Amino acid sequence: MKSLVLLLALFLPKSSPKTPILSQQFINAINQKHPSWLAGPNFPPNTPHSHLRSLNGARDDPAFFTDTETKNVTIPEQIPQNFDARIVWPQCESIRKIRNQGSCGSCWAFGAVETMSDRLCIASNATKKFEFSAQDLLACCKECGHGCGGGYSSRAWQYWVTDGIVSGGDFNTSQGCHPYSVQAFRDSTTPNCSSFCTNPKYQKNYSEDKRYGARSYRIAKNIEQIQAEIMTSGPVQASYVVYDDFYSYQNGVYQHVLGNVSGRHSVKILGWGRENGTDYWLVANSWGRDWGRLGGFFKFLRGENHCDIESNILGADCHNKDLAKLALINQWGGTITLFKFGPKLQFLCPKSNGGLTPGGDYPPLGKTNFPLGNSHEIA
Ligand SMILES: *[C@@H]1O[C@H](CO)[C@@H](O)[C@H](O)[C@H]1NC(C)=O
Ligand SMILES: *[C@@H]1O[C@H](CO)[C@@H](O)[C@H](O)[C@H]1NC(C)=O
Ligand SMILES: *[C@@H]1O[C@H](CO)[C@@H](O)[C@H](O)[C@H]1NC(C)=O
Ligand SMILES: *[C@@H]1O[C@H](CO)[C@@H](O)[C@H](O)[C@H]1NC(C)=O
Ligand SMILES: *[C@@H]1O[C@H](CO)[C@@H](O)[C@H](O)[C@H]1NC(C)=O
Ligand SMILES: *[C@@H]1O[C@H](CO)[C@@H](O)[C@H](O)[C@H]1NC(C)=O
Ligand SMILES: *[C@@H]1O[C@H](CO)[C@@H](O)[C@H](O)[C@H]1NC(C)=O
Repeated sequence: MKSLVLLLALFLPKSSPKTPILSQQFINAINQKHPSWLAGPNFPPNTPHSHLRSLNGARDDPAFFTDTETKNVTIPEQIPQNFDARIVWPQCESIRKIRNQGSCGSCWAFGAVETMSDRLCIASNATKKFEFSAQDLLACCKECGHGCGGGYSSRAWQYWVTDGIVSGGDFNTSQGCHPYSVQAFRDSTTPNCSSFCTNPKYQKNYSEDKRYGARSYRIAKNIEQIQAEIMTSGPVQASYVVYDDFYSYQNGVYQHVLGNVSGRHSVKILGWGRENGTDYWLVANSWGRDWGRLGGFFKFLRGENHCDIESNILGADCHNKDLAKLALINQWGGTITLFKFGPKLQFLCPKSNGGLTPGGDYPPLGKTNFPLGNSHEIA
């Protein structure tokens, strides 16, 4: 998969003027503030600022608070210090995947379909590995907003419930019913909605390929509820305000130190941890694996509703027919069912994180404070 960076290098005119917020000067100015993260170049320095801004296609949704049900998540007695959904549910490869929205402002769709794919895999005990199509959502959800020009994530989740979404892989893959198109990836053009599978290699009927959510909801601005939701049902979608310094993130725990508001972005939160005394959310971006030094993932300041990240959390239940109706594991001694399926404790505290590299940077597993020894399965 070509990265966004290389894509831009190919399509930008060589003579474009340099963009101040991508300059080495700006990067040095960020690092001189000694933030909890390292800045460095991720984009060719002549990438237009307007292009960077257009990547942030999460629109502020006027209906977010009125039309979206708030789920009251039960908080477990103990919340671990570190949690990484990639390690807890290793059978679900989608959690480890980083997608690439290309030059289209479709982050609102990517954050949603990535999260849906993870949740379906988790709820089905990895019997349903289905990569939901960003293309289908982008092209066919009219009420979601303006396609590559930005959209409303909460409507995306509602659309999953009412209309369903088909399968579809990244750009330049021949995976699923609606793989991501060159129009969206390269040209930033919202694709037309197609009610048949556009991938000739995928011999399935569009309407039969659709899978549905059962109930979409938001989570209140409450750290422990967000954590409990991730522990029980998998990753969540989040939106936050992007500042100019974010584009140059390399590693560490991001917090805004320099620059102006640049837009609103939408992503997937898959865990949390603490690094050098700073609490963070573990987040998947959709700017390809070459963005930053964590293979396209990043860490974001947790606990202060920094850039609004904790006030815009979305999720949904999977459809009943997709749930694994199997034994449940209760890790925390009887009150709350934390996992719908199988992660034995060795998944939570593996001796190594074998197989999860490259590019990944995982919380220090030795430091997890999972209450060992009190787990039991219930029929
Ligand atoms: C798409 O895939 C083809 C074949 O694998 C490759 O030659 C081409 O460079 C890819 N294009 C992009 C833009 O990634
Ligand atoms: C959420 O659930 C808890 C426990 O059931 C209850 O005490 C609390 O009042 C509920 N909060 C809301 C906002 O409904
Ligand atoms: C969508 O369909 C219209 C009318 O057929 C066509 O003119 C346009 O080029 C199509 N757009 C894309 C992105 O394919
Ligand atoms: C797809 O399946 C549905 C339901 O079985 C059917 O109504 C529809 O005609 C089929 N569409 C195509 C393109 O085969
Ligand atoms: C932020 O905006 C102000 C006012 O428009 C401008 O003077 C300044 O250069 C901007 N800063 C950056 C880093 O672009
Ligand atoms: C944590 O802080 C130490 C000492 O300041 C520094 O050497 C180290 O690189 C930091 N680690 C991370 C992951 O930022
Ligand atoms: C989930 O799937 C695994 C692997 O197929 C199986 O061993 C395990 O029993 C299942 N878990 C539950 C809770 O059914």
